[in-house]
Formats: sequence, structure tokens, C-alpha cells
Amino acid sequence: MQLTPDFLTSPRRIVVGVSAGIAAYKITYLVRALIKAGHQVKVVPTEASLEFVGKTTWQALSGHPVATSVFDGAAGVEHVEIAREAELIVIAPATADVLARLATGQANDLLTTTVLASSCPVVVVPAMHTAMYENAATQGNLKTLQDRGIIIMEPAVGDLSSGDHGKGRLPEPEEIFTFLHQLGETATPKQDLAGVKVFITAGGTHEAIDPVRFIGNHSTGRFGVEIAKQLQERGAKVTLLSANINENLLPASIEIIATPSANEMYQAVMELAPQYQIGVFAAAVADFRPETQAEMKVKKTGGEEETLTLKLVKNPDILASAVRRFPHLTTIGFAAETGNPTQVASYGREKAIRKQADLLALNQVGQGIGFGNVDTMLSILDKTGETLTSFSGSKPVIAKELSALIAATYQSKNHS
Ligand SMILES: Cc1cc2nc3c(=O)[nH]c(=O)nc-3n(C[C@H](O)[C@H](O)[C@H](O)COP(=O)(O)O)c2cc1C
Repeated sequence: MQLTPDFLTSPRRIVVGVSAGIAAYKITYLVRALIKAGHQVKVVPTEASLEFVGKTTWQALSGHPVATSVFDGAAGVEHVEIAREAELIVIAPATADVLARLATGQANDLLTTTVLASSCPVVVVPAMHTAMYENAATQGNLKTLQDRGIIIMEPAVGDLSSGDHGKGRLPEPEEIFTFLHQLGETATPKQDLAGVKVFITAGGTHEAIDPVRFIGNHSTGRFGVEIAKQLQERGAKVTLLSANINENLLPASIEIIATPSANEMYQAVMELAPQYQIGVFAAAVADFRPETQAEMKVKKTGGEEETLTLKLVKNPDILASAVRRFPHLTTIGFAAETGNPTQVASYGREKAIRKQADLLALNQVGQGIGFGNVDTMLSILDKTGETLTSFSGSKPVIAKELSALIAATYQSKNHS
């Protein structure tokens, strides 16, 4: 079963999996809304979730018998039957535990067995305490599921049942309903970059001091990777110039060129740009590098010196050079600035005017802001320093919106 843009405009057979999150009660409203919209709904709760909402409720709401164990309907091999019939499986709330079980391919209840036996699209809506959601184990499981094609609806930020505030809240039933009804559109983004060659720089450069030490920065490359994936989804042929990005983050489907230092990145960009139509400059490139690299590890001399002086020389400005030398290229620069919002806006304006890229994406970074797996906010400026729009949310969500804007900018530059 493929997701088409009008996927849920016709009545579908939907399996709603409910695991043992405190917000399970909200799913009663979702089940009602789906049935009201004409869909046939079978609810498959986990055994533990019955502590929150009982079988009777699900049976009465859905009009179907409800089971939690593969042994409940053994005569009809129920899990295979449900999986065969299902055109969409939605698991909400998806607990940390159920995500872990799905990620490791376990089949220890009717819900996980049904997912394993199915071939239809699967959506999970994680909901849990922020600390559980942000735990590396949960994030790793979500990544595994995403890589396997499972669709993840991000949890909301808000008040949690524990009294805390943060990310992990189950979105409201209406929001889940809308998300499901827009699935077809989001699963098949417009192919408005079909065949267009795009390179994207990402990560943070390392400028060698000696064979073992370098000057670097905190950039992980995560955002650049997300943008690369989104551009590829729109049909672009993407090459990622990776400055020291952790291998686990690099998607197998994207061509990667390793460009660990500013000079290597500069050379690669100058070589690629003539054959490419779009250049995205998301890497954090060092402005300066040590003038010389020691051939051997720099040692303490044993003398009285309390300081070591490194002479730094300016690196080439990759974005400004590309804009100047390759006017055919649609260029998107990034500026990560520190300071208060007014200072950041003013640095960004100045940079947009100086660099003359078609778009400049400006964000505030600093202690705990901007780097890694965190929500972020981007303002998009044009060449005159005017703010065109701004995006906020998780990096994958912003990457999607930004890639649509990049495609539109490319189209207007080339067809106006
Ligand atoms: C009051 C209460 C609320 C809970 N809420 C959540 C939750 O929102 N998300 C979650 O991942 N686990 C939550 N848990 C823990 C799960 O219920 C527990 O991990 C359970 O084993 C999950 O089972 P299941 O994944 O088979 O449904 C909660 C537990 C209790 C007692």
C-alpha cells in the first residue's frame, strides 16, 4: 500500500495501536474522528495500556472485538489477518518501551507482531516524559524506525503529566487526525528539483595545528544532513561535502565527499560548482587556520614559557567566492551568530548584504542553543538583508520547509 496525496480521502482500514502511555485516553477521540470520517478502525492495545483505557471502551468505540495477545485469536491467526487487511497502522501513544520493541523487531504481543507482519505504512506518535524522549536509547530507536521507513509524528512541547514542561506530550487528537490526512502529501513531496544537481557543505571544519591537534567547532552536521535528505526527496541529485560528520549520521543514499578542512572544502566547491545548479553552504567553516602545521606533535619545551603563540591566517571565504565566480548557481548561505536577538539580526543583515547569496539562513547559536539534536529557529534573509520568513521547530521539520523554499528560489532564478 503506497501513500498517495489523496490517501485518506477514501475510506481505509486503519489499525490504531495503543501502548501504555498516560495519554492513551486521548486516542478515544482519534478513533471516533477516524470512524466519523468513514474509516474502518481496529484498535490493538498493548496489555499494559489496558491499565489506562479498558478493552470495553475500544470495543464499543470501534465496533470490533479487541485483543492484546497473539493467542487470543489463534484459530484465525489474527495478527496475520489484521496485518493483511490494514492499509495504515498508527501507534499512539507510542511508549518508549513499544518503540524499543519495534526497533528490535520483537513480536511479543499482538501489536508488535501485527507491525512485523504488515506491509502498509506505519505511523508512530511517541509520547513520554522529556527525559525519556531525549534519552539516547529512545532517539536511537526512533532513528532505526525512521531509517526503516516508519513515519514519526513528533511529540508536542507542553505540560506533562509529571508536572514538568517539555517535549514529549502527545499531540491533540485533532492534530494527529490532520497529520494522518496530510500523510500522502508529506510522503510524496513535489518533485520540483527532479534531476537538479545540488551540493551541500555540512559539519564543522578542523584546522590542523599539528598531526594530533586542531582548531574546530561544535557543529555536528545534523542539520545539513537533514536538508540534504529533504532536497533528495524532492528529486535533487545531492552531494554532501562532509566536514567531520559522524558516520552514523550520514545517509547511505547520498554521495559524500570528505572535506575536513576549510581549504579542502574550498577546493571541492570550486571544482563541483560549474556542474551544479544549487549550492547550500551549511558547514561551520573556520575563518582562520594556523599559518603552519607542525610536522610533529607540539611539545612542552620544559622551559619557563607559560604561553604558546599560534599565528592564524585567514581562510578563503567559500560562500562569497562561489557567489562571485558562479552566478548561475542558486546559493544558500548559513550564518550562525551569538549574542542577543537584536545583535544576531544585525550581524545577519550585514552578512546577507556582504555575501550576496540568494538566501541567507540565520540562526542564533551559543551555549546549549543551535548545535546538535535540538529545536532551532531560522530567519531567512534575501540579498538586501530583508527577512523573507522564519522557521522554528525540530531540525527535520525546518529542513523540510527550507528545502521547499530553496526549490522555489531555484525555480524563480531560472525561470523568470
Ligand atoms: C502512570 C503511568 C504513566 C506512564 N506514562 C508513560 C508515557 O507517557 N510514555 C511512556 O513511554 N511510558 C509511560 N509509562 C510507562 C509504561 O506504561 C511502561 O513502560 C509499560 O511497560 C509500557 O508498556 P507497553 O509499551 O507494552 O504499552 C507510564 C507508566 C505509568 C504507571
